[in-house]
Amino acid sequence: MFKLTRMAKAAISLAATAAAAGALLFGASTAAQAAVQPKIVGGTTTTASAYPYGMQITDASQNQFCGGTLVSATKVVTAAHCMVGETTSSVRVVGGRTYLNGTNGTVSRVSKIWINPSYTDATNGNDVAVLTLSTSMSYTTPPYVASTDTAVYATGATARILGWGTTSESGSSSNQLRTATVPIVSNTSCASSYGSDFVASDMVCAGYTSGGVDTCQGDSGGPLLIGGVLAGITSWGEGCAEAGYPGVYTRLTTFSSLVTTQINS
Ligand code: ARG
Repeated sequence: MFKLTRMAKAAISLAATAAAAGALLFGASTAAQAAVQPKIVGGTTTTASAYPYGMQITDASQNQFCGGTLVSATKVVTAAHCMVGETTSSVRVVGGRTYLNGTNGTVSRVSKIWINPSYTDATNGNDVAVLTLSTSMSYTTPPYVASTDTAVYATGATARILGWGTTSESGSSSNQLRTATVPIVSNTSCASSYGSDFVASDMVCAGYTSGGVDTCQGDSGGPLLIGGVLAGITSWGEGCAEAGYPGVYTRLTTFSSLVTTQINS
């Protein structure tokens, strides 16, 4: 479920489309579904000017499949699970583009993909990768956490999420960039949701107990910001925005020195 390649994910969204068509055949009301599936899930539209470090990670034809965060003119932080099966020729990074179907902004090829060598599967942790861009991006970058900044993940702290992912669990991607805020969830609470899949050293959870607001498919790799500081990477979750199942993000403090080494390399 969480180690899907881009092609497998495309297959899943086809299955989801078929399932949605099935629901229609059985008389489910799309209006009622829209009412319970607020539009990231539960967020609002925003722009690349408001979040200039928000990058689209796309295939060679500029079809977005993950997000990323510009941390220097030529370095982008994303999720390792986004880069599985990818090569420097299969990936592009697009900056300064609010809409998936836009043509503006800066498109860069990637000259190096660093995947955390300890990565195996998002539910085992280590879900971080750093891309080196061939073309510099002149967009503002956010500060990112130092390894000693562990206090940022205080339970209840407000975290901002960002992406073009699906606006409901089985829905389609958002053409316009979206954002929302979610509270940080304690490790104890997240462990009771996810059991041994939650690796506290490598992950941090965020979301409301009642669900409703979350990242979803296609948001992976994008930022989780706390107080404007890059503190997490969208990684995984059970469904999206479900009550009792918060989103799970890479705990960047744990990987701060590894990532710093890559950024300065
Ligand atoms: N794995 C997903 C992706 O590749 C992100 C899922 C986030 N899920 C959640 N419930 N927060 O886009």
